[in-house]
Amino acid sequence: MKKALITGITGQDGAYLAEYLLGRGYEVHGIKRRSSSLNTGRVDHLYQDPHEENVRFFMHYGDLTDATNLIRIVQEVQPDEIYNLAAQSHVMVSFETAEYTANADALGTLRLLEAIRILDMADHVRFYQASTSELFGKVQSVPQNEKTPFYPRSPYGVAKLYAYWICVNYREAYNMFTCNGILFNHESPIRGETFVSRKITRAVARMKLGLQKKLYLGNLDAKRDWGHAKDFVRAMWLILQQKKPEDYVVATGESHSVREFVGLAFREIGAEIEWRGSGIEEKGIISEIRDQRSEVGGRDQGEGIGGAAKPRHLKSDATASDFRKRALRAGDVVVEVDPRYFRPTEVDELLGDASKARKVLGWEPRISFEEMISSMVKADLEEASRDQLCKDSGYRVLNYSNE
Ligand code: NAP
Ligand code: GDD
Repeated sequence: MKKALITGITGQDGAYLAEYLLGRGYEVHGIKRRSSSLNTGRVDHLYQDPHEENVRFFMHYGDLTDATNLIRIVQEVQPDEIYNLAAQSHVMVSFETAEYTANADALGTLRLLEAIRILDMADHVRFYQASTSELFGKVQSVPQNEKTPFYPRSPYGVAKLYAYWICVNYREAYNMFTCNGILFNHESPIRGETFVSRKITRAVARMKLGLQKKLYLGNLDAKRDWGHAKDFVRAMWLILQQKKPEDYVVATGESHSVREFVGLAFREIGAEIEWRGSGIEEKGIISEIRDQRSEVGGRDQGEGIGGAAKPRHLKSDATASDFRKRALRAGDVVVEVDPRYFRPTEVDELLGDASKARKVLGWEPRISFEEMISSMVKADLEEASRDQLCKDSGYRVLNYSNE
């Protein structure tokens, strides 16, 4: 049985990858950080009581800033494949925590590679590095592929640039099987709440249920090549199954603006958005509300992650009457620009060319941009409905909507 070690297993990609590898018969080990409250929500459904027989899912405490701990875990686990997904992964936050981001994202990668070398495992361990389209930053050509020069635009991008090159260097210097997956943005219903995609779908769901009045965003013109995380973790695995270690761009080949994302998310709940004004005065206003039945309760239904049942009290009445009851009406200003979300240096537009991944790995995305947004809004409606139920029953509901 193949053994995989995943750093960042409690994150979006870690959870999907763990589920995918377990499905392929792997024994999966994950590194989680100690935190003051539980941080394993995304993988709780994979947990197996260690006292059971045939356990294939294990978690180890660790941190990418702690070399001795990484060496010990790699030694204990003796993995065939290591997927280095752990990172301080928020671009905006990296401007505030630049040194920590470099420590975890850049040096963390080095520590893992060194662990493999120190333990004499360099000749048989396969190593995947979670590289990023943020490396292209201020893009030097459109679309971006494996040959496009890098120009990172944030401490996060710069830290990831070090990680990218140290993988290439260890491959060339020590003949190690190290690969970079240069992944463009990928989202899902379990995306972190402060990335723009989830911030939008969560706000839209909460507005529909009267839990939030407005969504404040930064750069509405930013364009991203957005795919679904479930498709992207499949590419990670494929990258490590090849004969030769190489680097691959993984992207959908479609680019959409933040504004477009907002419009589609609102459409999912039966509302049309009209944009008025420009610059920091631009506003998103509801121009029309259709009498549309919007299904509640679809977080990747039927699959492992979050496939929860529909909340009973919302099963059949999620129609335009919700808007009336919850006071979301045509003419409402629902989106405004807040310059606090502008970045000191921005990546304006990303568009990936994944021809190599399509040709060599036989990879292509299966979930469309529209399907992804739809599944995210549905899952967030389910979550918001839980909050609404609490609120309607007189319990306090925290509002941390505009992070
Ligand atoms: P994510 O949801 O933010 O997950 C990051 C994971 O790393 C979490 O499990 C987090 O633990 C862990 N982590 C953070 N700092 C750590 C440290 N010092 N030691 C150990 N673990 C640490 O990110 P994601 O979206 O799944 O992305 C996975 C990887 O792909 C990241 O490296 C990211 O930079 C890269 N990437 C992501 C995308 C994308 O669009 N999603 C695109 C390209 C590349 P906690 O749960 O405790 O916070
Ligand atoms: N987060 C956020 N919040 N972004 C906003 C907002 C807002 O309120 N308003 C506009 N944006 C814009 C950002 O300025 C950026 O141009 C775009 O929306 C996407 O932002 P994020 O969703 O935060 O993602 P990202 O592209 O910066 O970074 C993600 O993708 C990278 C791959 O390209 C992260 O997952 C990185 O870890 C990953 O490497």
